[in-house]
Amino acid sequence: MKIGIFISGTGTNMAAICRNFAEKKLVGVDEISFVLSDKRNAPGLEKAESFGIKTIVLPKKKDEPKEDYETRLLEAVQPFGTGLIVLAGFMKVLGHTFLSGYKGRIINIHPSLLPSFKGVDAQGQAFDYGVKVSGCTVHFVDETLDGGPIILQQPVLRHDDDTKETFKARILEQEHILLSKAITIVTTGKYSISGRQVLFSNKEEL
Ligand code: GAR
Repeated sequence: MKIGIFISGTGTNMAAICRNFAEKKLVGVDEISFVLSDKRNAPGLEKAESFGIKTIVLPKKKDEPKEDYETRLLEAVQPFGTGLIVLAGFMKVLGHTFLSGYKGRIINIHPSLLPSFKGVDAQGQAFDYGVKVSGCTVHFVDETLDGGPIILQQPVLRHDDDTKETFKARILEQEHILLSKAITIVTTGKYSISGRQVLFSNKEEL
């Protein structure tokens, strides 16, 4: 299956996917067709180029209606014919216009154990709350904020001597592993969805 990746910033999750693909560890993925950023200066763009991947920069115009922006997004990516779009630090909430073009074919990585700590700075929210454990989640994207069916989650313990930065860094390390695992589950089609639950046909392969 061909995949596309959306980013907004540093792009370390995207780079981890590209590295796994280059090392032929990303089972089920035939091609990373593009990396799209909604931010012109996203440092991740250079990283994508260093892997030889086509980059697309598509910022939302000032005062542009969300539907119009999402129509432009669809027009930019549909010609690639990707079976899956991976949101890897893409910080815009996608709405009906875009999602209707990729129903069940968009996944997102979020840096908390959902449904706790949705939205921005999830690691900071969890840290300030005083949690003993947080982590990361990969889920299908639907029209709710960080609310689609969960594919995989990885807990990360908060240590007594953690700072916000060290806690965030350990979560990010796990994100890099979890996202590629989830991509393989989806691209090999070894799952089914029952209500909100994503079930795997071959658990021992995980
Ligand atoms: C990651 O921690 C990702 O989980 C988070 O943004 C960071 C992007 O880092 N995404 C969200 O918060 C989405 N709600 P990266 O650009 O280095 O991959």
